[in-house]
Formats: sequence, C-alpha cells, structure tokens
Amino acid sequence: MTTAPCRFMDRYPEEGRDPVPVERYTSTEYFDLERERVFRRKWLNVGNVLQAPKPGDYFVADLKILDTSLLVIHGKDGKFRAFHNQCSHRGAPVAWDAQGSCKGYLACRFHGWVYDTTGKLVHISDAENFPGVKPEDNGLTPVHCEVWQSFVFVNLAAEPEETLAEFLAPVAGEIGRYDFSGFTPAFSYRIDEAVNWKTLQEAQLEGWHLPFLHEKTLARAVKTDGNQYRHASIELYGLHGVLGSPPPDSFTPSPVAQLASRFGTGTVQAFGAKVENEGEGYKFRGSFDFWHIFPNYFVGLLNGLYFTFNIWPVAVDRSVWEIKGYYPPVTTAGELFAREYSKVGLRDPMMEDCFTHELICAQLKSGAKQHIHFQDEETLVRHLGNGVERCVRGLA
Ligand code: FES
Ligand SMILES: [Fe+2]
Repeated sequence: MTTAPCRFMDRYPEEGRDPVPVERYTSTEYFDLERERVFRRKWLNVGNVLQAPKPGDYFVADLKILDTSLLVIHGKDGKFRAFHNQCSHRGAPVAWDAQGSCKGYLACRFHGWVYDTTGKLVHISDAENFPGVKPEDNGLTPVHCEVWQSFVFVNLAAEPEETLAEFLAPVAGEIGRYDFSGFTPAFSYRIDEAVNWKTLQEAQLEGWHLPFLHEKTLARAVKTDGNQYRHASIELYGLHGVLGSPPPDSFTPSPVAQLASRFGTGTVQAFGAKVENEGEGYKFRGSFDFWHIFPNYFVGLLNGLYFTFNIWPVAVDRSVWEIKGYYPPVTTAGELFAREYSKVGLRDPMMEDCFTHELICAQLKSGAKQHIHFQDEETLVRHLGNGVERCVRGLA
C-alpha cells in the first residue's frame, strides 16, 4: 500500500506515525517520571528580566511540580540569581509577594533573619540564642540560574548536564535574530486548569484546530484551504521547534479592531498581517511564529510585539497556564486602547482552548480509548510527546 506524501511526516520520519498511548496523559507513574526526568533535569524558563529591571528587584516563581517556589533576584552586581524561597531558620518564605523590590536586603517576616541579594545570611535575630548556628553555612539555597536574551532560566539538577547556551543552541541563532529590545510587560493572564500539561500545550502546538474551535474568534486571521488550515512551516530543532502561521489572502479586521490598529499594534490584527522579511533581522515563517522551547515554554513572535506561555504541571490532571504579552511602552491613551483591545482579543480564544482542554482531560480518564492520533499538521504536537518519552526512557 502506498501512502500519500505528507509535508512534515516525510521530512521528519524519525517522529513516527503511530497512535499515541492515552496512558501518557493519565498515568500518575508516567507523571512522576516526567517530574524526575524532564522537569528536574532540563532548563526551565521562569520569567523575564523585565520583571525585575533594577538591582534589588525580585520575583517569585512557583514550581509546584518540584514542590518549591523560587526567589529570582536581580543582584546589586547586576547578576540574576535564583534560590529556593525558604528561610534557613524554620522554612518560611523569604519573599511573600509575587514580585517586589528591596534595597539590597530581604528580611524574613517570621523572625527577621536577613539575606542580601547574593543569598548570604547577613543577620540572625537574637544571634546569641542560636549557639553554633553560623551565618556562612545558612545562606539561601541556590538554584542554577542563567539568562539568555531577556529570558531567565533555572535548572533544578544538582549539576546540570548542559549549560543554558548548549540547551538553547539549536534555536538560539534563529530566535536571537528577533530584536527583543524596547518592549515592556503589557499584560498577563494566569489560568489554573484541570488538565494534563501536555494536553494544554498541544492546542498551542498546532493551528489546525483554528477554523474549527476558533471559528468565531481567530479563524478569519489565518489562511485556510477550504476548512483546512495548513501551517506555513513546521520545523524541528532538537527537542524544540517552531510553527509559522500563514496570513489569509485578505483580512479585514472588525471595525473596532481597525480602530485599535490605528493607534497601535495588537495581536488580532498582527495575526492576519503579512510580514515583509527585509534586512538582517528575524525571518518570519508566517504572520506569527510560535517557538516551542522544550519542555513547557513558548515564545510567540509577531511583528511589533511578542508573548510567552509558561505551562506548569501541578498534578497529572492539573496545570497552570501563564500568558504574558510584551509590547512597546504606551505613551498615549490611543495606544493604551490598542493594547487593551489586544489583550481582550486574546482572552476569548484562550477561553475556548481552556474549556476544551478540561473536557479532553476528563474524558481521557474514562479509559474508553487506549490511543489518540496525530496527523501531519500536528507534527509539533507529536514532537513534544516524543521528546518527553525520550527523556523518560533516558534517551534525551
Ligand atoms: S523562619 Fe525566617 S526568621 Fe524564622
Ligand atoms: Fe486554540
């Protein structure tokens, strides 16, 4: 029997074509292996330097899958460091706010032990009553932390198997051509969902569902062939990958979107716009390119703005989706309107995604099906599962 040519499956035959076991989404044993062999070993993005722009600024990243929360702090020396957010006295969090700023020292609220921005314990309250407790042995517990472009990554391994530069090497040359300067955090969403972390990501790893699920929201801003969406590009780079979304032949935004686009760039408008690839800068594959950084990070590049997703497993059937948009700074009321319109323009398709994720997760548990299927346009979805499986088996 001959099979019809498939653009991506033919290009990446090593990804396979077989049905995928449902067990990978429902088994707590598999989830435990993912925790140890993926999340405790790989570099994980926890944020952006723009969340702590000045020395003394800090933010906290919750890594529930690894039973910790991390304090990421911009040191007085300009260096970013990460620590377990846990006081050495009795374990209280040192930083209680998701984001904040200090003048070089953080004091634990429980009994006032004080740490500097390098994690050193510089003051023990009532020190004479702690005989034998040495400050030099009781700093904050550090976690490996490195910055690439403006992205802050951590690695929870005792000794990482590779540097961040080595981990990102397959994609750094491509993504690094995008000019990330001149943006500011514009908005964020945080969604707590009853879904497996891979199911949550999978809807972001293919555009094929756009004309179906997002018929009323996003579908007009992408090119379809009949009712079928065809990616401009799917490219795999080691464990990472990218998909490019083709702009429609013609796109007329709604009247309100048109009004918003007179004042500033917005997501919905940019989704449908053709991009001219001129000069030495980043080369767009489509009107927007979605980069997937294994295992759980996305950088969505558009002309004039970018956004990121962090998808955090909490349990086998629970995950948190963090969405952050980065736009040029707003200077006028009109630009603020454009930005806010863009924010709510994203909300509706995201709610369509969330609703669907939770229904899928609930139903996969039934045991009615042993396998699910991925087609050619879902090659990046398959690639995520293959990457996780290779890690779980000790092959990556
Ligand atoms: S737990 Fe931090 S000072 Fe007591
Ligand atoms: Fe979607």
